[in-house]
Amino acid sequence: MTQVKGKKVYLGTNTKMYKGVADTASYLEELCRLTGDLSREALELFVIPSFTALESARRCAPRELVRLGGQNMGWAGEGPYTGEISPKMLLEVGADIAELGHSERRHVLGETDEMVNRKVLCAAEYGLTALLCIGETAEEKARGLADEVLRTQLKAGLYGLGAGGAERLWVAYEPVWAIGEHGVPATKEYAEARHDTIRRTLTELYGEQAGQAVPLLYGGSVNPDNAVGLIRMENIDGLFIGRSAWDASQFNRIIRQVMPLYMNK
Ligand code: 13P
Repeated sequence: MTQVKGKKVYLGTNTKMYKGVADTASYLEELCRLTGDLSREALELFVIPSFTALESARRCAPRELVRLGGQNMGWAGEGPYTGEISPKMLLEVGADIAELGHSERRHVLGETDEMVNRKVLCAAEYGLTALLCIGETAEEKARGLADEVLRTQLKAGLYGLGAGGAERLWVAYEPVWAIGEHGVPATKEYAEARHDTIRRTLTELYGEQAGQAVPLLYGGSVNPDNAVGLIRMENIDGLFIGRSAWDASQFNRIIRQVMPLYMNK
């Protein structure tokens, strides 16, 4: 098969509040076994488990096969923030990605753009990859406000982040109405149009070259039937998957559907 897309593909999952220590370990062992033969030059595979599972997860999954991240992060290296997990703590257990501003944190747990911004800046300070999640609600979509919401979440979330920090930035577009059990996946055309807005905003903020270099991931009811169509889109560089990736063999199936677009076979 001919190579369709030039860069590497970003494929990852957030296991939310589902897998504990033992389940995460067996999941990662299986995922590494199933995907061990795939070149990591063309694949950035990442898993974001619960905090309690991170340390043992790192022992189960070699860094060269899977990157690990935290589902949230406090906005300081240390301090009087009961219940928070700092970037230093994430790095200590081998996680170098901080998932920030997931819709469940914004809309269920009340996280604001300002809080997300403080976390993005802190992740950059400590050298973590910030995976900034943004997305409009169904109501905002219905009112034709999706692009305005995305631009605001980006500009507010990235406020004060310099070019150096942007080098380690990933952005996940996850429309709130597309996520979870009752979610309806975005069509590839709708997702691409929003990714185009995100890309333009990033090039406005960081210039053409740096803006183009930020990986943009789509998330929200990705499944084996829509993964390839989404990833073929020009501005979709990766997929951030929930339910369809929580079984290692199903995730492996999606990975193998997508990889031929990135590798000469
Ligand atoms: P689902 O794929 O289960 O809709 O979840 C997506 C998600 O929230 C990834 O962060």
